[in-house]
Formats: sequence, C-alpha cells, structure tokens
Amino acid sequence: MNFKENINPKKLPKHIAIIMDGNGRWAKKQGLMRVRGHEKGTKAVREVVEASAELGVENLTLYAFSTENWNRPKVEVDMLMRLLVSSLKKEIKTLQDNNIKLNAIGCLDTLPPKAFKELQEVIEKTSSNNRMTLTLALSYGSREELCNMVKEIANEVAAGEFSSKDIDESVINKHLYTRNLPDVDLLIRTSGEQRISNFLLWQIAYAELYFSEILWPDYRREDLYEAIYNYQNRERRFGKTSEQLS
Ligand code: IPE
Ligand code: IPE
Ligand code: MG
Repeated sequence: MNFKENINPKKLPKHIAIIMDGNGRWAKKQGLMRVRGHEKGTKAVREVVEASAELGVENLTLYAFSTENWNRPKVEVDMLMRLLVSSLKKEIKTLQDNNIKLNAIGCLDTLPPKAFKELQEVIEKTSSNNRMTLTLALSYGSREELCNMVKEIANEVAAGEFSSKDIDESVINKHLYTRNLPDVDLLIRTSGEQRISNFLLWQIAYAELYFSEILWPDYRREDLYEAIYNYQNRERRFGKTSEQLS
C-alpha cells in the first residue's frame, strides 16, 4: 500500500513525538560498536524531519537524550555529545533549506558547553523559520520537567504573584519546557519497546501511541507515512461516545 498517497492532509497530527530507540541493538546485529548505531541513526533523523516538513506537520519532537542516559558508560555519553555537535553543524543547512525552526527542551545547562553553544547558535539562526518546529529533547526527563514546573509555580505563589486556587491546566502548561507546543497527537516509539521512558508524561495524556518493531537506524520516511496513516484511521473520542462524534 502507498501510505503517503492515502494520508489526508487535512487530518495531520499537529504534533508528532518520537522515541528514537534501537541504535545499540542495530549496531550489535551488524557486529559493530554501539556508537556506529548512533551515527547511522542521524540519517533516519534527517529522513523523518524532511518528510514531516514536506507533509505539513507543524511540530515534531525527537527524544535524543534522556536524564537517565547520563548513566550510560562515559565513552558512549561523550560520543553522543560529540555527535550532537557535528550533526548540528551539518544539519543547519537541512533546517534552513526546509524553513524549519529548531527548539530544545530539557535540562540544557547540563550539556557540555560546546554542545550548549552550538545548540543555541542553531536555535538563534533558525528562529524566524516557520514551516515546522523541530524540538530536540536533550537531557530531558518528564519528572524533572514536572518538578521544575512545581518549583516555579510555588515560587510565584510565595511571592504573591497569584493565588494557588488559580492553578489550572493552562498555568501548568505555561511552566513546562513545552509551553509553546500543542499537546502531542501521535507518539511513535521504535525498536519494539512499549514504554514511555520518562518522556512528555503530561503532554501525551491523550496522544495516540504507535509502536514500531523497526530499529531506529532503519527507520525511513515510508515508516513515518505508515504511522500517520494508522493514526488517521483511529477514532479519537476524548471520552465521548462514537455516536457523539458523527
Ligand atoms: C536510542 O538507542 C538512542 C539513545 C537512547 C541515545 P539506544 O542507544 O537506546 O539503543 P538500544 O535500545 O540500546 O538498542
Ligand atoms: C529512551 O530510550 C531515551 C531516548 C530515546 C533518547 P532508552 O533506550 O534510554 O530507554 P530505556 O532504557 O529502554 O527505557
Ligand atoms: Mg534504548
């Protein structure tokens, strides 16, 4: 089936988030070091970013490095940070050519200074692009984000800026790293694992979940089209009955 041809451009998810998983297993299967899997994964990133922008998806968020990933062996962490820097240098052209704005969420000040600087530079240079927002989740953990949100709100209440009884969902949204993004409509995880791994817990409250067996370095644009096609053929009821929707 040609999934792309069957995608309804009027029913695109406004926000797709992807847990890009399986780089290590991909490398192991080929008898390579884990780092080779991460390198190969950058091609899949480019494909998915370009395909999303071409389709007209407004927001794409990629889980690139979690707060828990700091616990990996130092050689792997160092290599991932170097890969981040080299990918940013190389892919700024892809972002500019496709009119894509780069954004980042997470504990960004824990990144190595070089990576932080490069990231800020690309964010700055692409800030007026408006076809799609590409958000990289880097040193991101949803629980850390939620703790941060609670601290900020508690400080504002303590300072008398507003009353605790005025705390509602929109106040919470404004204190998350994703404050400028809509809720996630479609969450994709590759590599066959079916878990969330501390990603966007609040923001996926009503997302459609899609799990693919494909290891991330093998993920191609057709696989994204298939996920979107599958998403468009689900009924999102948001608590209502099917009859109420039609
Ligand atoms: C995802 O692939 C990339 C990151 C978490 C940085 P993994 O490195 O987790 O690959 P597997 O899960 O070990 O195969
Ligand atoms: C989640 O993948 C984080 C990223 C994709 C960046 P992990 O491979 O780190 O997650 P677990 O350990 O399988 O839950
Ligand atoms: Mg993994």
